[in-house]
Amino acid sequence: MKEGIITSFLSGKGGVGKSFITTNIAIQLTKKGYKTAVIDCDLGFSNLSTLINRKVNFTVIDWINQQASLNDICDKAPQFTLLTVSNNFEHNTVSNEILFNALDQVIKYLKKNYDFVLIDSPAGSPPIAFWILDVSDYSNLVLIDEPTSISDVYRLCKYVFNVTDDYKFNAIINQSENEEDGLETYSKFKHLIKNFLKKDIPYFGQVVKKNIIAELIKSNQCIRITNVDDDIRTQFDILSNQIIKLNKD
Ligand SMILES: Nc1ncnc2c1ncn2[C@@H]1O[C@H](COP(=O)(O)OP(=O)(O)OP(=O)(O)O)[C@@H](O)[C@H]1O
Ligand SMILES: [Mg+2]
Repeated sequence: MKEGIITSFLSGKGGVGKSFITTNIAIQLTKKGYKTAVIDCDLGFSNLSTLINRKVNFTVIDWINQQASLNDICDKAPQFTLLTVSNNFEHNTVSNEILFNALDQVIKYLKKNYDFVLIDSPAGSPPIAFWILDVSDYSNLVLIDEPTSISDVYRLCKYVFNVTDDYKFNAIINQSENEEDGLETYSKFKHLIKNFLKKDIPYFGQVVKKNIIAELIKSNQCIRITNVDDDIRTQFDILSNQIIKLNKD
């Protein structure tokens, strides 16, 4: 049997839309009939459960502390199976070595049982971001049209390409005013990477900025976003198809 694909969402800069994009792509993959799991790796500030209105009963840290089984930590929500690594700063009680070892086992289990495993990463460059990059078959860089977003992602790419010359990244543009602006943001980023790092990072897709997104998220209705807005639905359809296509290539 073919193993599941591991793909992650990173940005460096916080608040650009990683969790929102991860959640909605995962929802689309499930709708298209793929078994999809998501790991919320935002240690201490995990919020994917809030985005899909689920309560976290057990975390990966509970599993490490033998207070839960592997089955217990997989919350089989209708939208996708959600695993939360830590939601209480409880990860501070275990070493990174123990944590990453446990997460490697979690990945092994998910690869066998799911078609796609999506990893939502925290902002910044904590140690877990490098574990995420390492276990992913490829990573998606979430960018917005702000110099600090582009420069954070640039520095992340520079570091990663120094370690792994052929690392596979894709670019997703979020919060663009319209599709044309989104493509322009991608073009800026593409040229920066091409000129200074001599690499090509393909365009994966974009999500435009819409007030309805912030409103629905505020009122705990993130899962309704693709039902109420045609543009957003089309954009997430494209993004999820890209992930499916990469798996087939
Ligand atoms: N396309 C969009 N249009 C309008 N608002 C958006 C869009 N994408 C994200 N947002 C807003 O940005 C906020 C931050 O999104 P999200 O929490 O997904 O970012 P993040 O990158 O995961 O943040 P963190 O780095 O803190 O984990 C959301 O609550 C939402 O209000
Ligand atoms: Mg987030």
